[in-house]
Amino acid sequence: MRIKVLMENSVLNPIRACGEHGLALLIETQGKRFLFDTGQSERIVENALTMREELRDLDGIIISHGHYDHTGGLKAVIEAAGGVDVYAHPDIFTPRYGKEPFNRYIGVPFRREDLESIGARFIPVVEPVEVVPGLWISGEVPRRTDFEGRDKNLYVLEGDEERVDPFRDDLSLYATLAEGVLVILGCAHAGVVNIIEHAKEVTGKKDVYGILGGTHLGLAGEEQRSKTIEYFKNLNLKFLAPNHCTGLAIISELRAMYGDKMHFASVGAEFEFE
Ligand SMILES: [Fe+2]
Ligand SMILES: [Fe+2]
Repeated sequence: MRIKVLMENSVLNPIRACGEHGLALLIETQGKRFLFDTGQSERIVENALTMREELRDLDGIIISHGHYDHTGGLKAVIEAAGGVDVYAHPDIFTPRYGKEPFNRYIGVPFRREDLESIGARFIPVVEPVEVVPGLWISGEVPRRTDFEGRDKNLYVLEGDEERVDPFRDDLSLYATLAEGVLVILGCAHAGVVNIIEHAKEVTGKKDVYGILGGTHLGLAGEEQRSKTIEYFKNLNLKFLAPNHCTGLAIISELRAMYGDKMHFASVGAEFEFE
């Protein structure tokens, strides 16, 4: 399995590419190519070209959740791909908002019908689904911990009332590797500990090989950060590539803890797994 970072907050290599607050990973496995998230704009298309990746023959797009920084590139990618299957939770089009750094709409910036009219075929994902052998889409992630999954900064409206966003649509990917499960995160709004526990249950793997993607720890409170890092210590992780909403402070902390096992997953980074 090979994973390339097509969009992320920063650029790693001296290549003609750009970063933006967002995430998009190209995942190749079993002869299939899936795009996990699309960044926040059409700039993903140029990054893909720079990395010699053709979006025309994608086998599917998988959407982690309905935030603009993961879905904003959808229109451009669907146009580049022609007709394409889009795996997503039915709640991704729920209007949603964020308060920091200022109050604003942060949901999907397109209507479902607009995307369908240019070739998107939405496939609803609520339960875990093995999209190709060895690669699972999580489906809804049960909330088990008491310190995750409730970010007061992120909300939906019920009438005029603000409600903390429940993020039922938060999906991750679970790849079963020889050495354990690799957990691939979008923004981990369900909570990274909840997600990893669910990954073990869904895949039947006791060992967790590693994590890649947005952990949300940079935007979480101190209690969640410290309890999650404590949990990581007990997992004996062999590979970490946290990026995006993890934030540079936590990334630095994990690099100090894990040394070479900790990788920088910026635009241009490429990883291979067995
Ligand atoms: Fe995000
Ligand atoms: Fe998000």
